[in-house]
Amino acid sequence: MSVDVVILAAGQGSRMKSKLPKVLHQVGGKAMVQHVIDTAAQLGDVNTHVVIGHGADLLRESLQGQRVNFALQSEQKGTGHAVAQAMPEVSEDSVVLVLYGDVPLTKAETMSQMVEIAATGDLALLTVDLKDPTGYGRIVRNSADKVVAIVEHKDASPEQHKISEVNTGILAVKSQYLRNWLPQLSSENAQGEYYLTDIIAMAAEQGLTISAIQPDAEEEVQGVNNRVQLAELERWYQLQQAEYLMINGATLADPNRIDVRGNVKIGQDLLIDINVVLEGDVTLGDNVVIEPNCYLKNCTVGAGTRIKANTVIEDAAIAENCDIGPFARIRPGTQLSNKAKVGNFVETKKAIVGEGSKINHLSYIGDAILGKDVNIGAGTITCNYDGVNKSTTAIGDNAFIGSNTALVAPVQVGSMATVGAGSTISKSVSDDALAVTRSKQTEIKNWPRPQKKGS
Ligand code: UD1
Ligand code: CA
Repeated sequence: MSVDVVILAAGQGSRMKSKLPKVLHQVGGKAMVQHVIDTAAQLGDVNTHVVIGHGADLLRESLQGQRVNFALQSEQKGTGHAVAQAMPEVSEDSVVLVLYGDVPLTKAETMSQMVEIAATGDLALLTVDLKDPTGYGRIVRNSADKVVAIVEHKDASPEQHKISEVNTGILAVKSQYLRNWLPQLSSENAQGEYYLTDIIAMAAEQGLTISAIQPDAEEEVQGVNNRVQLAELERWYQLQQAEYLMINGATLADPNRIDVRGNVKIGQDLLIDINVVLEGDVTLGDNVVIEPNCYLKNCTVGAGTRIKANTVIEDAAIAENCDIGPFARIRPGTQLSNKAKVGNFVETKKAIVGEGSKINHLSYIGDAILGKDVNIGAGTITCNYDGVNKSTTAIGDNAFIGSNTALVAPVQVGSMATVGAGSTISKSVSDDALAVTRSKQTEIKNWPRPQKKGS
């Protein structure tokens, strides 16, 4: 049976105190509604509908190019009315899974369990027991403990207020039932809204079975209404990411001090120290060591590489057994081959660095191609930009560039060539040659140094 996922995301979320629609606020570097879309997509071939209202244009824009239908709910008349807006696009014979755009961390297993129940039975409801159920819809059960209705907090009697089992809002039911029930909803209640929750009583009256299941963790059904709750979910999400890394072979100095904002793939026996942020698509090989305070975004790091403290790496490919940092900045387009070394206060950009080459101190290497075993002395700069064009510097195998050299691109330095310290190289250097552009040192013998008066 096909699955239609309906994600409610039309509400304003005024308690966020934000110009950004609530569901676009991020957890783990990804918009909340995107989490819901991505997790639902794990169920297989689902049709996803997002009900939008407040901030509709921003939502369309940020989700453009994805396989989702948008249903516009121009006035927010309640959750039942919201689902009704999506129904014209929902299949005749499918299971409808209703999710909330501001409940980002429901697990795929929980969702698929609900779809399974609705496909083979009648109605699946996700409920949770709360110490403080204030504000939530209460699950009303009969003497046989069967679910018979949901009563919203504002409509509930004092007796019903004592019920601790609440509606999470997430449910699954066949589309044919919804088609029949939604037009029957009335807005005669405390909030003057069309409550989706009223379909529970309709189902019960028809003698259908309502199965209430509970999530493994409360956070799975935790909604976000303000930034305090957003931060709570962020921490829970990060702990899950940390656990994933540890279970798969990384030792973390402190699981509370790592942040993952993307997809991280790892080998085994990694060591990750504190305050490390991993963003986008990051792949880390066996035995990689990441020292404190590093930021890695969209990069691959080969086995045995050590990234020393306070290093920033972005859009780069680092091979095996490299040594980077401390305080290195590896910018987009950098490719380091095996055993390359990039030391402190070095910036690289679009630099292809051959095996075993070293750029150990205080350098800028941009738009450059370095061969194997090249040694770049301290303070070497590739002058890659003339104010209009970017040009390339090419350095051959085993070349030795003396400290404080300026390489004015486009320029080539041959293999086994040597450049004397302090040179400005604007013409190509042949293989095996020595190039020096330094002015000659002069000397004044027995020069009388100026003396302070009275000494
Ligand atoms: C709803 C449930 C309640 C449940 C609670 C869980 C109903 C009537 N009540 O209450 O039983 O305990 O969620 O958090 O369903 N939305 C729309 N359009 C609308 C109204 C809401 O898209 O017209 C969206 C909101 O953006 C939000 C979600 O639906 O993502 C829930 O709306 P909200 O107003 O928070 O529902 P509650 O009153 O909290
Ligand atoms: Ca709510």
